[in-house]
Amino acid sequence: MKFENKRAAGIKSSPSMAIAMAAKKLAAEGRDIIDLSLGEPDFEPPAHVADAACEAIRKGRVRYGLPAGTESLRQAIVRKFETENQLHYTVDEVIVANGAKQILFDVFLATLEPGDEVIIPTPCWVSYGDIVSLHGGEPVYVQCGLDAGFKMTAERLEASITPRTRWLMLNSPSNPTGAIYSAQEYRQLADVLARHPQVLILSDEIYEHILLNDVRFVSFGFACPELRERTLIVNGVSKAYAMTGWRVGYAAGPKALIAVLNKMQSQSVTSVSTVAQAAALAALTGDQGFVTKAAETFAARAQIMSQRLPKIDGLDFNPPDGAFYAFIGVAKLLGMKGAGGELISDDTAFASHLLHQFGLSSVPGTAFGAPGFIRLSIAASDQELEGACERLAAMARSLEA
Ligand SMILES: Cc1ncc(COP(=O)(O)O)c(C=O)c1O
Repeated sequence: MKFENKRAAGIKSSPSMAIAMAAKKLAAEGRDIIDLSLGEPDFEPPAHVADAACEAIRKGRVRYGLPAGTESLRQAIVRKFETENQLHYTVDEVIVANGAKQILFDVFLATLEPGDEVIIPTPCWVSYGDIVSLHGGEPVYVQCGLDAGFKMTAERLEASITPRTRWLMLNSPSNPTGAIYSAQEYRQLADVLARHPQVLILSDEIYEHILLNDVRFVSFGFACPELRERTLIVNGVSKAYAMTGWRVGYAAGPKALIAVLNKMQSQSVTSVSTVAQAAALAALTGDQGFVTKAAETFAARAQIMSQRLPKIDGLDFNPPDGAFYAFIGVAKLLGMKGAGGELISDDTAFASHLLHQFGLSSVPGTAFGAPGFIRLSIAASDQELEGACERLAAMARSLEA
């Protein structure tokens, strides 16, 4: 029996999830595996988050919520944008969803006509393209390699816009590269966008707080206020507060767009779990010390990678400015052979060999539209990161031409 329609058949399961599952299976079989495939903080959210959720349950705040999110959480999100990003939104210009991921579903479900194009600067997060395709859109991948600091440039943007372009996706700090756009770089894009009023901008700022050095984060909305009426800022509590499993994301944008997203939510999920929203409210309004401390922890871990990886022959490593990933060039090692004669033909073969022969789980760059790279999450203990670098070095040493 064939169950899938064309749309479902046209997309793949999240590659990072698939690799994480393979790593878990090997670990369950007793193999010593360091799993650096998934992107989630490896510590618990602050205690007041769980307390708020328990209180919501005890006090019976467990009925259906509003599709756009509880009034109090949306107010807290409005305040977050005010204080952290100097962006001014009203409560009916923000929406809460089951993770930033669901915001993307709502957006493309509501706004794309078949064949509409969505420009995705690449390397990009694994899910953007498939979520676009699933909703009948055409992902337009624009290579923004190391030569461009892994960022979209004005020239590349201009060249990729067509009359069918509906959205431009931006993601800073970036998963997988850790690149962060400056206000000036955003302004250069804004000059191009000014000439193309049909293009909407989705700025995914979910790694806003994970800053690894002195490069500052700026919201696209702050850098380009004149584009406010066609910009959607997407964020969430997953990464900043280590709340990946609570599934709370949010977005801010023009009222009419938020109203359409609200309609999508009302006919799909009804509302995000009100218990999870109580937890997210506590995260956004409680003591923010956790966020700073988490960023410091990630910065120290990035340092470990920056000290170790450049010493491994055959790898190219550009230290990330933000997010919690090491994006490592392995192109020089491709075409070589493992000790058992296996050909390491591409980054997928490289990642597979690294997992099966050396017990280190990574995500091949191809999953991010960037062949010739692998991504390691640095959301792991110092010990695991040291071990990962040793395993990577051992594999690099073992390869022969
Ligand atoms: C760039 C980017 N955007 C969005 C998400 C999804 O976040 P959420 O947990 O809020 O759905 C992720 C998760 O890995 C991500 O890396």
